[in-house]
Amino acid sequence: MNKLVKVHDREFEILLSREEIAARIESMGHEISAYYQMRKPVLLSVMHGAVIFASDLVRAIDIPLEMDFVRLKSYSGMESTGEVLMSQKWEKSLKNREVLILEDIIDSGTSMNFLIKKLREAGAADVKIACLLFKPHAFRYEYPIAWKGFEIGNEFVVGFGLDYDGLGRNLPAIYQLKTS
Ligand code: IMP
Ligand code: MG
Repeated sequence: MNKLVKVHDREFEILLSREEIAARIESMGHEISAYYQMRKPVLLSVMHGAVIFASDLVRAIDIPLEMDFVRLKSYSGMESTGEVLMSQKWEKSLKNREVLILEDIIDSGTSMNFLIKKLREAGAADVKIACLLFKPHAFRYEYPIAWKGFEIGNEFVVGFGLDYDGLGRNLPAIYQLKTS
């Protein structure tokens, strides 16, 4: 696995290997299966970033579940715009359903705060979150995050679904912006 990669004009260095990510997703899958036994939750993946995490995670979960997708947008380049848009809504009725949001990364927390509110308005019976990455020092809200893959620093990261201006999503590991 490459230790350094270039995405657009910037250099990134390895933060989490493919193997570390796979092992963590496997254990999250077991925990989620145990929690939702017999309850058929809807796993709502946030596009585009979370689809790679979601595709591995659902295969580590061995209980009946349904999948749906939502598209949110808030980032431009390496900066959050602070404004969240739902550019594609989920398809199913989520009324009285238990919803587990699958997100690639929670940074300020604004996107998930927006989505939780939308899901409550849609009548979801319960809303929980599983994210692959969490930036605790950037998080500005109080809501709980039921399953977190890894806590990381505030550095901008790419790979495993996460992009820098559209590129880097296909990297099999997670890389952070090289500062020196
Ligand atoms: P938040 O609303 O500030 O929590 O930002 C969440 C969204 O911003 C994520 O769904 C990502 O799409 C994007 N994002 C946040 N941090 C990063 C990063 O380090 N790399 C790539 N995308 C990021
Ligand atoms: Mg995202």
